[in-house]
Amino acid sequence: MSRSRTTAVTTVKKPAGSDRRGKITGLAVVVMAAGLGKRMHSRQAKMLHPVAGQAMVLYAVELGLRVAGAPVAVVVGHQAEQVRAAIDRAVSGPRGARVLIVEQRKQLGTGHAVLQSRPVFGVGKRGAPSRYLILNGDTPLLQEKTVRELLRVHETARATVTLLTAELDDASGYGRVVRAPSADRSVVRIVEDRDATEAERAIHEMNVGTYVVDGEFLFSALAKLAPSNAQGEYYLTDIVRLAARAGGRIAAVVLDDPDEGLGVNTRRQLAEAEQVVRWQIRDRWLDAGVTMLDPASTWIDATVRIGKDTVLYPNVTLEGTTVIGEECRLRSHTRLTDCTVGNRVEILDHCVCTDSQVEAEARLGPFVHLRPGVVVRKKAKVGNFVEMKNAELGEGSQANHLSYLGDAKIGNGVNIGAGTITCNYDGSRKFQTVIGDGVFLGSDTQLIAPVTVGEGAVIAAGTTVTEDVPAHALAIARVMQVNRAGWASRRRALATAVPGKAAKKLATSQSKKRR
Ligand code: UD1
Ligand code: MG
Repeated sequence: MSRSRTTAVTTVKKPAGSDRRGKITGLAVVVMAAGLGKRMHSRQAKMLHPVAGQAMVLYAVELGLRVAGAPVAVVVGHQAEQVRAAIDRAVSGPRGARVLIVEQRKQLGTGHAVLQSRPVFGVGKRGAPSRYLILNGDTPLLQEKTVRELLRVHETARATVTLLTAELDDASGYGRVVRAPSADRSVVRIVEDRDATEAERAIHEMNVGTYVVDGEFLFSALAKLAPSNAQGEYYLTDIVRLAARAGGRIAAVVLDDPDEGLGVNTRRQLAEAEQVVRWQIRDRWLDAGVTMLDPASTWIDATVRIGKDTVLYPNVTLEGTTVIGEECRLRSHTRLTDCTVGNRVEILDHCVCTDSQVEAEARLGPFVHLRPGVVVRKKAKVGNFVEMKNAELGEGSQANHLSYLGDAKIGNGVNIGAGTITCNYDGSRKFQTVIGDGVFLGSDTQLIAPVTVGEGAVIAAGTTVTEDVPAHALAIARVMQVNRAGWASRRRALATAVPGKAAKKLATSQSKKRR
């Protein structure tokens, strides 16, 4: 299951140090992500549930990649392939090569999960990691600075195990940190909620599930674990007791902000995590120079990027891999998913855009729907009730009213008249419409694809274009107009003379005339 390791790791004895990018050399990471998450009551593995649009597991994976110089092993089990795919999609290139996927076929506990990563680290050999950062995959609020502090304390204390803890008013559900009665109050063990005595349950200090462990100690300790507890599992937390018993030092860092230690086991905790992460994201973009008129109603996924001096109005939603340029203005109730938007673009209210590209100084909305594969070139305009799909609208072109433009390539400086429709679908297949530069399409034009309109051509309003139009030609295809002199006055006169029958009589006389 594992990918080949490409990153060199330092020797066991080398002291902690960091490389140019601040990654700690000799530090490997294990992310535990194999559990189903029974308490979520979901068909989907807990690790795949999104927090701010990003699968939960990615928070730990990204954090690991940022701090550690050595590989990041991710232990997967439930829906392993989907978890692996989510990681592959998000982490590619050289960073992706540093992630090693390890499978835990049966979920026998967190200790067993970490043990599965042993083969990928070359334990006992030259170059094996000197210490491990172990992360629960369900703790998405954990911050990098906290992990770095944990590592610092681990080094200074020369500890065997260093763990992160938090003081909660009510720590129920979590493992409790049991400290020695001695003056130094050192940590002696962790007891899981289900194995705790009444007195232990009253402890307020909980185990966050983030550990730094000495490289030589970790796997020898894991080999000694026994599933002698209420859940019949191999608990990672038991390595604390083993280290203490072997005379090793246990260090602990207590979180200043206990929220950071939130473990997501239930939908309620998922909702809590979502709230916190959403605010972190808003604060990050506010600090980076983005204006939000109503931050609380502005929804920005973790993976979105926004340029400075962009203004977001209330109820804007930015999802997925969306990238917004500088000095843009996005009005209310607009949702962009996986879109790229250039600088100084204005998007008016109520636009829904997916997997599309909008170039600099273009203008969208109100009420525009861009379905996947749309490119709106520089300074182009797409307005009121226009739907586009797999279509390009050239530089400076305009489609301002009530149109459907699908499977179309539209040149520069084109006017798309109100009510234009590309008839791209014959009931079974899709065809393309090509419109050259400078074309003028009158209102209510239908283009029966496949069809090409040559550059500079004019299409008269109300035309159904069924054949290619040569460059600079006029195409007109509509029923000739007939004007009947006096018809309207005659009808009115009849209506006054014989109310009711008038319309009938007039209709009969007209139909006779036509025959
Ligand atoms: C765990 C800790 C508990 C701590 C809490 C913090 C243990 C025994 N308990 O409990 O002390 O207070 O986290 O949130 O470690 N996993 C696997 N394989 C398994 C079991 C779990 O990979 O066989 C993964 C899960 O996917 C999850 C993580 O390990 O990401 C923690 O598992 P979970 O079941 O959530 O443990 P908690 O009961 O929360
Ligand atoms: Mg948990």
